[in-house]
Amino acid sequence: MLHLPRRPRRNRRTAAIREMTQETTLSLSNLIFPMFVLEGSNVKSEVKSMPGIYRFSLDTLLEEIREVTDLGIQAICLFPNYPEEKKDKRGTESYREGTLYLNALNEIKNKFPDLTLMTDIAMDPYSSDGHDGYVENGEIVNDISVEILGKMALAQAKAGADILGPSDMMDGRVGYVRGLLDAEGYTNVSIMSYTAKYASAFYGPFRDALDSAPRFGDKKTYQMSPANAREALVEAQLDFDEGADFLMVKPAIPYLDIIKLLHDNFDIPVAAYNVSGEYAMIKAAAQNGWIEGERAMLESLMSIRRAGAKAILTYFAKEFALAQNG
Ligand code: PBG
Repeated sequence: MLHLPRRPRRNRRTAAIREMTQETTLSLSNLIFPMFVLEGSNVKSEVKSMPGIYRFSLDTLLEEIREVTDLGIQAICLFPNYPEEKKDKRGTESYREGTLYLNALNEIKNKFPDLTLMTDIAMDPYSSDGHDGYVENGEIVNDISVEILGKMALAQAKAGADILGPSDMMDGRVGYVRGLLDAEGYTNVSIMSYTAKYASAFYGPFRDALDSAPRFGDKKTYQMSPANAREALVEAQLDFDEGADFLMVKPAIPYLDIIKLLHDNFDIPVAAYNVSGEYAMIKAAAQNGWIEGERAMLESLMSIRRAGAKAILTYFAKEFALAQNG
């Protein structure tokens, strides 16, 4: 017999003790469900690289939102898919009145006033260049982009958004958007800034869903290098000072250290985006019978919470809700 005064296994001995000593919890209230809207009616089209995730026309989207809110989901983030002919260099469709996206936000807010409605601010769904900012001579021009993003932000606030999510990574956009919102009386509209958004291979399936892949080059002049962590602190300090309400890290699983870094250094809530590629990997392996999908999902989401994220944007939200209800 070993003489061991401390045996950690005692605290793992029964289910009740394990639950009593559980350090991190995960609940549906932590999750934000990203959803996709496209033109037309009676459309529900599956994203090939994201099994179980669909693009909806507004009518079917409203039915789906009814279903997911009935399951207990309290927050969604909406993204639009626009046809090529609606796109231009300045992404003007992003702030013109009565567009697909703004109209959808409006209808959702009217029908589901208690649902937390998050939006995306970036030019890529509307840009003929497929970039998040304005392109001139092959370069993404920061300050002109910020001006366009500001118009988009105001239009989304007017349409009923609760939380705006600038995902563009331009410099100075959080402060600029905060200033515009406040000047127009939208002091209650929050900003969840994509603070440390990395130039990642894990966005591939999302770009399929939106048909929004960049038409040339990549996003490395505005999204961060996967090699950098200290730079995330610079971005976080700026977003904090500019008035962000949440600091987001994206993707999530490959960047748990960054989530923890921001959590340990800032006193506002940290969010994480468990992105399309992270979802696709688990789905693909599960469909092949190579891993247990549901357990892998729960473990992933728990690890993101453990690293310090309060809010998690995840395509697993509905599945998590179903698992809880079931
Ligand atoms: C666009 C945007 C992207 C995502 C959210 N907003 C893609 C990109 O930057 O190319 C990715 C989300 C995902 O992969 O699930 N500004």
